Amino acid sequence: MNKPEVIVALDVPNAEAVPPLLRQLPPEIRWVKVGLELYTIAGPAIVRTLTASGRQVFLDLKFHDIPRTVANAIAAAGGLGAALMTVHATGGRAMLKAAAEAAAAFGERRPKLVAVTTLTSLNADDFKDLGLARSVADQALALTDLALASGIDGVVTSVHEATALRARFGAGPLLVTPGIRPTGADVGDQKRVATPAVAVRAGASYLVVGRPIVEAPDPARAARAILAEIDAAWAVLKP
Ligand code: C5P
Repeated sequence: MNKPEVIVALDVPNAEAVPPLLRQLPPEIRWVKVGLELYTIAGPAIVRTLTASGRQVFLDLKFHDIPRTVANAIAAAGGLGAALMTVHATGGRAMLKAAAEAAAAFGERRPKLVAVTTLTSLNADDFKDLGLARSVADQALALTDLALASGIDGVVTSVHEATALRARFGAGPLLVTPGIRPTGADVGDQKRVATPAVAVRAGASYLVVGRPIVEAPDPARAARAILAEIDAAWAVLKP
């Protein structure tokens, strides 16, 4: 396994807010995440701009549609230069396979795909509303199994499930973990949080960090502190 990397979530209201933020990020941070908010207002141009400036883009649009539509969306996003993207595992086996095939068509420049198994905002009552009989934890495991068997590279998961996923699925899958909060930081609306060091020890591949960097009084300093915490945890673990 490689040293886990930080992905900074560009959760900002418009494209104009992006460059001032990027200027403050240390050069070791290669990855940024474009999610629904920024993509909806700034469109494909923001992805092209970021990739052209040498950033690795995680395009987090959580594709969920019929297989052909998702495959075409992945082809389009790969064409923009996105290197990592999300699909909903509940799109089913045919959709997941079509997504994996669309990514594979890029050959060496193949974007990686990670599946969203269960939105962390859902609880047991929501599962009842949705007619889902499995527990939230069992559903996440079953959908991870389905996604990996369908050729998807990994999953988005809370740090708290990452250890169990590594134990069950080994070192191969990418584990992308949001909900990262440096010690002492404001938790915000995230319920299942963990420090960068805990995420590293749990086997995360990428740590998605938004507000602790984006809303910090000094984003550069906040980012450097997170990188230092990752380095220290990794130094103890590295193979
Ligand atoms: O600001 P914060 O660090 O909480 O940002 C986390 C990012 O990860 C947000 O962009 C959010 O959309 C995303 N995310 C999450 N929880 C999930 C999946 C994605 O917080 N379960």
